[in-house]
Amino acid sequence: MSEHENGCEVVTLPNGLRAIRERACGEVMHPGSGPLMEAESVYVTPSRMAARMGEGGDPLVLFDVGLGAATNAITAWQVSEAQGPTARRLEIVSFEHDLDALRLALEPENADALGLTQSGANAWAAARSLLEHGRHETPRTLWRLCLGDFRASLAEVPDGSADVVFWDLFSPRTAPALWTVTMFQALRRACREGASLHTYSASTSTRSGLLLGGFAVGVGERTGDRDETTIAATRPEDLARPLGASWLGRLARSSVPFPNDVPKDPAAWAEALARVQGCPQFRER
Ligand SMILES: C[S@@+](CC[C@H](N)C(=O)[O-])C[C@H]1O[C@@H](n2cnc3c(N)ncnc32)[C@H](O)[C@@H]1O
Repeated sequence: MSEHENGCEVVTLPNGLRAIRERACGEVMHPGSGPLMEAESVYVTPSRMAARMGEGGDPLVLFDVGLGAATNAITAWQVSEAQGPTARRLEIVSFEHDLDALRLALEPENADALGLTQSGANAWAAARSLLEHGRHETPRTLWRLCLGDFRASLAEVPDGSADVVFWDLFSPRTAPALWTVTMFQALRRACREGASLHTYSASTSTRSGLLLGGFAVGVGERTGDRDETTIAATRPEDLARPLGASWLGRLARSSVPFPNDVPKDPAAWAEALARVQGCPQFRER
């Protein structure tokens, strides 16, 4: 495929690092501090993958929602590959409906910048196998591709499947149907008890949507141009920095407090606000 037939292109960020931009929507993947740094700081480190694998037991299941250029997934894959034989295996399920970003990331001139470095060959070969065969397996890590629209794919997922979710889709401006209360409720159903969800978004409507979907919600690390990101969990006690009363005040004052599937009328907003205020993490302890 020539570069012009690909729906994505490589761009240079203000910090000089390279990232991938989807031409149609104009959104850049990992636009703040760049692919490698954001994969690590927003997704892989906060999800404590190494520690969770070290607990032993059944495989740890990661839902990588928005495979894109595979930087998040391959960063998690490398953590798994570095564990000893007694650690839990990692199963990565990458959801994606368009493989152009991965095709571009696998080009030799882009692979290093996107984490698919060819020098060690293993990561590149794993991602290539995912592209060509829809799966790749080592003694430590099973990586599967779920190709298609995420909403349809999620409907097929059994309850309680995921331990970790990387929620890295394009923004609500580009993908309004994916950042809804309905979507987060479906995602909560697919999570096991003890699961965590990690996303770059810190918007009030994302956080209220996650709360209305049944997650507990907290503040995640700053990254690049964002002061905060978001971590959600099935159990409030797993959050280091749960949202509290000051965030509820912000919600009450917000002009865009809820996802777009909460009707924009005063009665619906009042009801949604009361439901958020009643979430377990806001009760007096
Ligand atoms: C921000 S990029 C993901 C970046 C990626 N996590 C990485 O590490 O490179 C968002 C991705 O979500 C995909 N996507 C958007 N809407 C989708 C949908 N409805 N179903 C499946 N994938 C979708 C896009 O094609 C795009 O590759």
